Amino acid sequence: MVGVAGVAEGVEFLHALAQALAVVALYPPGHTNRLRALDSTYQKLLDLFAVNERPVFSFLGDEVVLGNRPLRELRDWEWSNRLAGIGMQRLEFDSNIAISVEELDALLDHIVARLTLRPTDSSVARQERVTGIRFGAVGVGDEGAPEDVLEEEPEKAEVATATAAYSLVEEAETVVWVHDVLRDGGELPLMEAEAVVRSLTVAMHGDREMMLPLLQLRQFDEYTTTHSLNVSVLSMGLAEWLGLGGRDVRAVGVAGLLHDLGKVTIPKEILNKPGRFDDREREIMNSHPVEGARMILTSDQQLDLAATVAYEHHIMIDGGGYPSMRYPRDCHFASKLVHVCDVYDALRTKRPYRDPWPANKVLAYIGQKAGTEFDGALAHSFMAMMGQWEPRLSTLHEEETPPVGQPSPALTDQDAGPPE
Ligand SMILES: [Fe+2]
Ligand SMILES: [Fe+2]
Repeated sequence: MVGVAGVAEGVEFLHALAQALAVVALYPPGHTNRLRALDSTYQKLLDLFAVNERPVFSFLGDEVVLGNRPLRELRDWEWSNRLAGIGMQRLEFDSNIAISVEELDALLDHIVARLTLRPTDSSVARQERVTGIRFGAVGVGDEGAPEDVLEEEPEKAEVATATAAYSLVEEAETVVWVHDVLRDGGELPLMEAEAVVRSLTVAMHGDREMMLPLLQLRQFDEYTTTHSLNVSVLSMGLAEWLGLGGRDVRAVGVAGLLHDLGKVTIPKEILNKPGRFDDREREIMNSHPVEGARMILTSDQQLDLAATVAYEHHIMIDGGGYPSMRYPRDCHFASKLVHVCDVYDALRTKRPYRDPWPANKVLAYIGQKAGTEFDGALAHSFMAMMGQWEPRLSTLHEEETPPVGQPSPALTDQDAGPPE
């Protein structure tokens, strides 16, 4: 399960921080009121450190997350929007690097300066090369945006290791647990599914650059788990790329996470069958969209979007795919979005019946099928997004990807991709 120490202390610290920001905006440096507010905030930070050595806050607009845990007490907290609005989607403190009151003061001053558009005066912190305070965040497609950090990163290498910092093991275990609950006939644990999506959102914005933390199958041996997490990440990435707001992005993330829920009851021998399906097996396999939608709808939750996406994610834009519709109609935008991400991840992953496709081949396939299998605009947006991100992702898939130029085995995909 995802969790984090010091939730109460984190909430108290943020309240103190918000109060201090209001005071800093009103009083000049050195004023008694300002010093008092600063001391109080500093004390709350030390209280937080006592239970959490390295608290990381994420401000996702309407939501505040500490580590992986959403702070329900701060839902719709106005400062979250303000901080996100000045590019501070992430605020991180490290108790192992002594933080002085002056540094905290400089942080407050910097935030107020950004909020009020006056020149910043964080010279105190700028003189220090190493500080325990780091903040920033860059949105999707915004790689060249200015960095919002008080000073330079201690080492560039820290950015490179950011992917490793998010192994997503807890998230994967939570997904396995969610699937187990459903397999045993239980109700969909929505809170946990949403917590996983929030956690993925945090991992995606975990450093100075947006990233798509995708898992490899061998990191977690169950395909449906790895695939669900990856489709959730890719879907949220694409939704953000297209400019959707935080709440909508996370709704798409939940839909991506749950799109193959109907597979939990399909026997593993069928799911992992190395050869072709016979008619009965194909029928069972093709029932997973209907079954998944049913599971989601009967779990008595407000998950209409996820249910729709589960139902529609194998329907092609030209009406092909499954389940077949008696009266063809346009699928939901989110279904078409998840459909592209679903096929991408499926083809990039090694399956018992075929090797993974190299990224360029998958993207070429998506381009080729734009307008027939995939929504044209979504397919092209996805290609543009991955064109930017695949160079960073390719190392994650390195060992499973045949070298470019080497013919890859014929596609005999069982779930996504072109039907044979
Ligand atoms: Fe599926
Ligand atoms: Fe899928």
